[in-house]
Amino acid sequence: MKKVYIETYGCQMNVNDTEVIFAILGKAGYARTESMEEADLIMANTCSVRDNAEQRIWGRIEQFNVQRKKRPGTLVGIVGCMAERLKDALLETHKVDLVVGPDAYRSLPRLLEAISPDSPQIDVLLSRDETYADITPVRTDRNGVSAFISIMRGCNNVCSYCVVPYTRGVERSRDAHSIVREACDVFRRGYKEVTLLGQNVDSYLWKSADETVNFAALLRMVAEIDPSLRVRFSTSHPKDISDEVIETMAAYPNICKHIHLPVQSGSTRLLEKMRRKYSREWYLERVAKIRSIIPDCGLTTDVIAGFCSETEEDHRDTLSLMDEVGFDWAFMFAYSERPGTLAARNYPDDVTPEVKTRRLNEIIELQNRKGLESYRRDIGKELEVLVEGTSKRDPGQLCGRASSNKMCVFPAGNLKVGDYARVRVIDATSATLICVLA
Ligand code: SAH
Ligand code: SF4
Ligand code: F3S
Repeated sequence: MKKVYIETYGCQMNVNDTEVIFAILGKAGYARTESMEEADLIMANTCSVRDNAEQRIWGRIEQFNVQRKKRPGTLVGIVGCMAERLKDALLETHKVDLVVGPDAYRSLPRLLEAISPDSPQIDVLLSRDETYADITPVRTDRNGVSAFISIMRGCNNVCSYCVVPYTRGVERSRDAHSIVREACDVFRRGYKEVTLLGQNVDSYLWKSADETVNFAALLRMVAEIDPSLRVRFSTSHPKDISDEVIETMAAYPNICKHIHLPVQSGSTRLLEKMRRKYSREWYLERVAKIRSIIPDCGLTTDVIAGFCSETEEDHRDTLSLMDEVGFDWAFMFAYSERPGTLAARNYPDDVTPEVKTRRLNEIIELQNRKGLESYRRDIGKELEVLVEGTSKRDPGQLCGRASSNKMCVFPAGNLKVGDYARVRVIDATSATLICVLA
């Protein structure tokens, strides 16, 4: 049996795509390996979202090519968002054997058959309807507790900085019943948590001849599988998150009380330029609504520092918004111009690297402080956590997430992975709640 090794970069949707690829290649006679040295086929499932993500991957592809030289006959493939963005340029510059975009994974077996040393294979066609709904992903998580399920693909927004609509194509929602079947299936196999994935889950909309399912309805369907199956989702879009979704979260104890709500900037002028289609006020109103319905809701975000034309005043607007909201956690990035995007075509990348770095550092410093405050506010609370594994720092302790998505560490007691535990928070860092068993 041939062996395939895949390294995955980028977002959780890519991790899930790798699981779909393992399933497709499994049917074509490839077994999964975690060692590049013994693989017949070495692949990178790639990300294009920022330039530094791509640079890191280039380095790895060089390593793959070294392997191929050492062991002639080994194949090297690039799949995912960089494959889609760079297309046949990859064949010329990096001499790989295979280039496959995110909507073309079903053609992998056929392409692999057709490869020969002087005929590399490429398929980067995007699709209007591919959702891989019928493919059961080969789970690659290590704990067997928490599974990710893609509910949609692509994105119909055109945020001006973002390459995703170009690499992933138009938005399409997956058959709601195939999602519920997959969630039931992982629950039967012992998983206790599913995370529903999409670039903008709030615009999930699946229609059949006699049914229309929106995101709130999908949440209800998955939450009703079993009260002991936790449901999470990511990513929400501030312009689309509805009261119905927030109320549905509140109505089901097993829908986790955490929303990842990327704000990107606190300046309405920049939000407009980013084409996010909401203002600072709109964002703050959504946060107020969430907190009025779900007072303890975990809130996390993404922020971009130094987008085109950003002034000190715009930057201060971002800081003041972050100060006002007090996110638990944030992914924070310096703006990276992506070729082909609206911003790259229309606006000069005119904030200097030094200023971007300084602003990013101010954002990170503020977030560390606000994150710590948020974690410390939980001291004294009693929480329910799902045990995920042993703590990295202290193998005598277990770790797992609270409903809010905050990581907790606590004594093992008689608990095992996959159990629910009641804990009491006695101390906190900016990323961990230190707990005792309640
Ligand atoms: N669909 C999600 C985000 C997907 S990309 C949403 O709309 O929120 C993940 C994050 O990468 C984005 O939220 C943004 O903060 C960041 N990002 C995207 N393009 C970027 C760029 N060109 N430069 C820097 N950060 C970027
Ligand atoms: Fe990119 Fe905007 Fe779509 Fe998110 S919503 S993937 S940031 S275009
Ligand atoms: Fe990256 Fe593609 Fe995800 S660009 S963030 S892997 S959708």
